[in-house]
Amino acid sequence: MRGVVFDGSQVRVVDDLVVREPGPGEVRVAVAAAGLCHSDLSVVDGTIPFPVPVVLGHEGAGVVEAVGAGVTHVEPGDHVALSTLANCGACADCDRGRPTMCRRAIGRPGKPFTRGSASVHQFAANSAFAERTVVKAVQAVRIPEDVPLRSAALIGCGVLTGVGAVLNRARVDRGDSVVVIGTGGIGLNVLQGARLAGALRIVAVDANPAKEEAARLFGATDFLTSARGVRDLLPTGADHVFECVGRVELIRQAIDLLDRHGQAILLGVPPATAEASFVVSSLYLDKSVLGCRYGSARPQRDIALYAELYRQGRLLLDELVTAVYPVEDFAKARADAEAGRVARAVLTF
Ligand SMILES: NC(=O)c1ccc[n+]([C@@H]2O[C@H](COP(=O)([O-])OP(=O)(O)OC[C@H]3O[C@@H](n4cnc5c(N)ncnc54)[C@H](O)[C@@H]3O)[C@@H](O)[C@H]2O)c1
Ligand SMILES: [Zn+2]
Ligand SMILES: [Zn+2]
Repeated sequence: MRGVVFDGSQVRVVDDLVVREPGPGEVRVAVAAAGLCHSDLSVVDGTIPFPVPVVLGHEGAGVVEAVGAGVTHVEPGDHVALSTLANCGACADCDRGRPTMCRRAIGRPGKPFTRGSASVHQFAANSAFAERTVVKAVQAVRIPEDVPLRSAALIGCGVLTGVGAVLNRARVDRGDSVVVIGTGGIGLNVLQGARLAGALRIVAVDANPAKEEAARLFGATDFLTSARGVRDLLPTGADHVFECVGRVELIRQAIDLLDRHGQAILLGVPPATAEASFVVSSLYLDKSVLGCRYGSARPQRDIALYAELYRQGRLLLDELVTAVYPVEDFAKARADAEAGRVARAVLTF
């Protein structure tokens, strides 16, 4: 079957990939569509270290093909969106509603794929850039069949991360002020999460002026090409500033833009050993810096919620899918994403 494989130096679309049968508690999914998130590109440029060879992709949706022993919540033919959390469901963190903190869901890459005699790693417990993948049952979330799979594909990372960061981690309240630095696939979903939460002033900042139209469509009340202009709009600072690029100088800017009691939420992923600095006294007035993994999501609940909000017209998904590419055109999708020509590039199989 076809898939996108990174071997440590090059990314190739191959057609000799094999995925194993689902074992007990696993599900095999025929992937229909998958979004290209910046984190996939960060594996390729070394920002996110990951063992190779690896099948990329971690934001997809498709149709269940086969289920292993003991899987009862989905059956062949069901439409599912895939999460990246292979959480155990049985530990104290899972039990208290924090599956993103499950120790079994971090840093344990599996190898369900082979090419010839060589085994190939699975990225983010997911590898949606393959015609078929095998995931843990908990990662396959049933969605209604009237949600187009191309749109549903984007729930599994961009929406869970962006909207989840607003609702689950920052807990933005009605009337709050929000600044979003970086309005790619993640930042656009922070914008629409802030709108859902009832934020009053929602300022989008992106160095690329071409992002303004999408940012306003997703909920921005203002758009700037540099964070330096934010104080003109919010003289006392913002209640919440989301960094959605992954650059340490923007993390510093986010902290400097906080109002009293404000919080900076870090979604972007800089290189693994990057350090950021700030003036300690600038945090005295009850300010916080929050990390946020995967929107602090609870995928079985949140994916179903976002699919329903989409059906009600309250959450935008179709508008994120600015361009669709057959998987063979991965290089073009990558170039368009890197040049900022798309909200999300979506691969189809
Ligand atoms: N925390 C998580 O769980 C999680 C999940 C998914 C992605 N991420 C990370 O989030 C970040 C964003 O991902 P994405 O898919 O939205 O990326 P993207 O490439 O789609 O968007 C990045 C945006 O940042 C803008 N930008 C670049 N430099 C800028 C600057 N100096 N000032 C303002 N804007 C600037 C770009 O124009 C672009 O619009 C990445 O670092 C990714 O790895 C984190
Ligand atoms: Zn992602
Ligand atoms: Zn667990």
